[in-house]
Amino acid sequence: MKILVLGGNGFIGSHLVDKLLLKGHSVRVFDKNDEHYRKRLNGVEYHVGEFGNRGVLSDALNGIDVVVHLICTTLPKTSNDDPVFDMQSNVIETLFLLEQCRANNIKKIIFASSGGTIYGIPQVLPVQEDDQTNPICSYGIGKLTIEKYLYLFKKLHGLDFVIIRPSNPFGPRQNPLGIQGVIPVFLGKILRNEPIQIWGTGDIVRDYIYIDDLVDAFYHVVVTKTMSTIYNIGSGNGHSLNDLLSIMKKVTKSDFSITYTTARSYDVPEIYLDINRASKELNWEPQITLEQGIQSTWDFIKSLSVQKE
Ligand SMILES: NC(=O)c1ccc[n+]([C@@H]2O[C@H](COP(=O)([O-])OP(=O)(O)OC[C@H]3O[C@@H](n4cnc5c(N)ncnc54)[C@H](O)[C@@H]3O)[C@@H](O)[C@H]2O)c1
Repeated sequence: MKILVLGGNGFIGSHLVDKLLLKGHSVRVFDKNDEHYRKRLNGVEYHVGEFGNRGVLSDALNGIDVVVHLICTTLPKTSNDDPVFDMQSNVIETLFLLEQCRANNIKKIIFASSGGTIYGIPQVLPVQEDDQTNPICSYGIGKLTIEKYLYLFKKLHGLDFVIIRPSNPFGPRQNPLGIQGVIPVFLGKILRNEPIQIWGTGDIVRDYIYIDDLVDAFYHVVVTKTMSTIYNIGSGNGHSLNDLLSIMKKVTKSDFSITYTTARSYDVPEIYLDINRASKELNWEPQITLEQGIQSTWDFIKSLSVQKE
């Protein structure tokens, strides 16, 4: 199968590309950047361009069977700063992509939505796919809008799609100096002997999923015909920031310092996903415990500092 991964040089994309290559698929990547932590891979065809560059994108779609759409130009935290940019660069450009998928007879598109933002503040936990969606950030509104257009394109033009709503993925190749992903960011601070700052009391609960488990779910929906079109992909369990910190103390064997400051108004206090649909229909279960995942992320972050020396 010939698969195009949009955003294939990012955190999730690079792991998915590895899995697709391992399974013998023909892989093309469309991205504006090269991978941050590795050189270009043998066997991957790279198309470099901005998502908004419609000519390059159209070329990249030529001869492709399945598209995995992992490009996102904003983050939940920053998306509210410029919602116009968010809609233009994500929603409008994705609409162009869908038109091009239709023109190129693409068989299926897989879209990375967001289990952490699309539901807003949950009424009931764990959150199921059919629960209310009331995002409280522009990023989540954009993801939901794209989901609705996927339905429309299926209805109007028969373009097949699957939506993955990941919770909070983490693991190697997630940037410890970035502003997303508390696990690598905290571990990076621990390695640099910097204090960890927590907004609020550390009781905020999230659902952390190790990257290999998330990628297994993506792989499954790429290669099989699914019963449903939307899947929550998470661990199915909630962990507070304080839980994470105590596991990090154990894994890193470090007695790092923590400062607690005022809580941020836009943080959803508690969310974790119901993963029963994926577990039944995809025959998928997360395999890696939070502690195992933190250990391998820690190993990766330590290896980066060794490379620099
Ligand atoms: N990481 C998470 O916590 C998380 C959680 C839920 C959903 N998602 C979604 O999964 C997808 C992948 O996330 P990720 O963590 O791998 O992100 P990432 O930032 O690591 O990777 C995104 C890739 O897209 C590329 N890209 C961004 N803007 C582009 C543009 N305008 N033109 C061309 N390429 C562009 C980047 O260069 C990067 O390689 C995104 O859609 C994201 O919204 C991520």
